[in-house]
Amino acid sequence: VMFPLQGAQMLQMLETYLRKSLPESLKVYGTVFHMNQGNPFKLKVLVDKWPDCNTVVVRPQEQEMIDDFDHYTNTYQIYSKDPENSQDFLSSPEVINWKQHLQIQSSQSSLNEAIQNLAVMKSFKVEQTQRFLYMTTEAIKKLVPSLLDVKNLPPNSGKLKAINQEMFKLSSLDVTHAALVNKFWHFGGNERSQRFIERCIRSFPSFSLLGPEGTPVSWSLMDQTGEMRMGGTVPEYRAQGLVTYVVYTQSQALEKLGFPTYSHVDKNNKIMQKMCYNLHHLPMPCDWNQWHCVPL
Ligand SMILES: CC(C)(COP(=O)(O)OP(=O)(O)OC[C@H]1O[C@@H](n2cnc3c(N)ncnc32)[C@H](O)[C@@H]1OP(=O)(O)O)[C@@H](O)C(=O)NCCC(=O)NCCS
Repeated sequence: VMFPLQGAQMLQMLETYLRKSLPESLKVYGTVFHMNQGNPFKLKVLVDKWPDCNTVVVRPQEQEMIDDFDHYTNTYQIYSKDPENSQDFLSSPEVINWKQHLQIQSSQSSLNEAIQNLAVMKSFKVEQTQRFLYMTTEAIKKLVPSLLDVKNLPPNSGKLKAINQEMFKLSSLDVTHAALVNKFWHFGGNERSQRFIERCIRSFPSFSLLGPEGTPVSWSLMDQTGEMRMGGTVPEYRAQGLVTYVVYTQSQALEKLGFPTYSHVDKNNKIMQKMCYNLHHLPMPCDWNQWHCVPL
């Protein structure tokens, strides 16, 4: 059985429901939060039951998924109260179109078993990426205060060091900067990823520092799940505190808008882990997962 959730009231109820399962529901919670704020990516929600749902899938509308090879567009966010029993629901071609190149994102690594079983059943290759999931102290205070143990906060202030204000100007990005972001994005570097970045820039607030030449030298974006992502600094300007400044400014601005603020970091990226530590973004007990699926 598959049930599409429609209308503002149902989506509001779902947001409240997901909020009770944070941080495991974070990726889906963030997505539904932004669906309730105007839904610029025109996503839809499918559940297995209502109102007491087990599994929630957020995905684009079929008419948006016209390129079988575009896994950036063909992205699904999943939360399940009962991951072991989510497989039947996820196997339905109306819930997930397993014939396309696609991505699944979730804050629950426990979905892996169902996805691996489905890979055998439906004949696709799957590659899982697991990373650290972080929330800002402000978001934790507001959404999951039980996770905030003040004794565990880093000894620093959580504030940032000064940058050269004469040399760098705070700004946003425009779509013409997508190529630059794409060049340094770990999951990017192709035409489809560039289109995805352009869409993120058009749809959500973005943050950058312009260098002396008036072009962005450091930046951070937001995606359709509300995650702060794709941060980068051009090599010539690294290790001057720039990305720390941009991400600090970004999280302050998004918190002011009432957005849940969170991010992920590669397990090998010590620099971004240090930045998170410095800014009091705290690692969550669950992680950030992405499964890239390619039909065989
Ligand atoms: C990771 C990256 C964004 C860092 O940007 P940056 O502007 O140089 O970062 P910052 O100067 O704000 O540095 C953050 C912290 O890491 C430290 N750091 C920066 N570069 C470092 C290096 N090469 N070696 C050791 N420490 C380093 C800084 O000293 C700072 O810590 P501190 O404030 O305690 O001194 C940049 O290197 C980059 O674009 N890399 C490629 C893309 C990428 O990995 N993006 C992140 C995806 S989540």
